[in-house]
Amino acid sequence: MQRIKLSDLAEGQTYKKCLFSPLGQKVADPAEPVTAAHKEHLRRQGHEEVLLAGGLDELAAEKVVQHFEAWKLQAGVSVEHGILSAAGQVLLEPGQTVEQHHLDAIDASGKIYAMPAHGTQDKRRWQIISEALVKEIERNITVADLRVALASENPWPAEAPVGDWPDRQRLAAIRQEGVEKLRRLYAHIQAGLHVNVQEFVESADELMGWLAGHPSRFTQLALLAKRREDYLPDHGYTVAVLAMSIARRLRWTRENVRQCGVAGMLFDVGMLMIPQQVRNSSEALSDVDRSRVLSHPAYTLGLLELVDGVGQEMRLAGLQHHERENGTGYPRGLRKDAISDMARVIAVADIFAAMTEPRKYRLPKLPYMAMEELLHAASSVTVWKPAVRALVQAAGLFPVGSFVKLSDGRSAQVVGAHADQFDRPIIQPVRASGKEQEDETVAWDGQPIDLAEVPKSRLTVVRAILSAAA
Ligand SMILES: [Fe+2]
Repeated sequence: MQRIKLSDLAEGQTYKKCLFSPLGQKVADPAEPVTAAHKEHLRRQGHEEVLLAGGLDELAAEKVVQHFEAWKLQAGVSVEHGILSAAGQVLLEPGQTVEQHHLDAIDASGKIYAMPAHGTQDKRRWQIISEALVKEIERNITVADLRVALASENPWPAEAPVGDWPDRQRLAAIRQEGVEKLRRLYAHIQAGLHVNVQEFVESADELMGWLAGHPSRFTQLALLAKRREDYLPDHGYTVAVLAMSIARRLRWTRENVRQCGVAGMLFDVGMLMIPQQVRNSSEALSDVDRSRVLSHPAYTLGLLELVDGVGQEMRLAGLQHHERENGTGYPRGLRKDAISDMARVIAVADIFAAMTEPRKYRLPKLPYMAMEELLHAASSVTVWKPAVRALVQAAGLFPVGSFVKLSDGRSAQVVGAHADQFDRPIIQPVRASGKEQEDETVAWDGQPIDLAEVPKSRLTVVRAILSAAA
């Protein structure tokens, strides 16, 4: 390990080893040129030198940082010292409570290290890095980045079916596999390890297959989120599914629909940097916590630096997904056409997903109620109307996957939607075990019933219900 005075660090200079701050945070990779932002960041933290080393083991040998036994960390305990990943990324700040996704990131990291006790961890580190990235992206935005081109011809010609639409159990398994893959990728990013965007593209491609073969049933994949504290991978998957079906209805090119899926999986990763008690708080936040939440779109940009090959449109989706059409959003209060189309689609998918997902501190909203709220938001001009319209067309007014009460008293699950008849979905009645269904007005052979093919006078949806048992 070698110490280099900050004053001797020249912009543009490269080194064969990594540069670390005296607290063990990685500043630059081998062969990465030193920039003014690196020096400014170190100066703002009050450092006078940087450490040149092959890895944190060398810093540990010099007692700058200390090996830390990962088994000592459990969800719910708070750490005394800051904890670094092997890649020199701060996983936990002093005093922060350990959450499951931290443990996942520690697994991905392998070794972890405790930061020096005397070092005051700079809580604004992410803010500084992210703000620099935001400025850079804002300097370089072009109109082409903001607008998504429509397909000149039907991008979804009839094609070989991908197979039958899976039953409920298989569907849950497909979703679970996708969510677990996202969880692993998030853990890598959080540990400061690079991943290739191709990993996300592969997941989006799998979804493209289902979307192409079963467009009216596809959104069923979105309404299967489980109740859990670490909901971000679930949320990313749901938003990807919804955003792709919206983009398809908007007649975007297949490439853009795929990118929308990737953007859905990545747009909110900045939330990983927000402690759970802040994320889950239903009470008013302190100024510090509030500014952290408002910064999470910028934090997403910081973490996307670790996703090799990520495109400008995905960065914009991350940065702008909380902007609103009438300028009431954040971080910039942009209006309408200043917001990228992809960010507008992600925003609608994000709002619908958040309302219908269970959280630790509240029950999910009925998908029907969530849809109503979105339609209201569209008419009050906070969200992009075409995207909301496309979501209703893709998922139905009684969204695919949700449960309804029928006019003959039966309960049913909505399993498919028609773009032109929002209130006549395809349904799968749920037969109460051992109960005679003498009142069935439509003979039922166990297969789904397409209400679009049944006269309204015979069978209709009466209202939305929370579950089949209701
Ligand atoms: Fe967000």
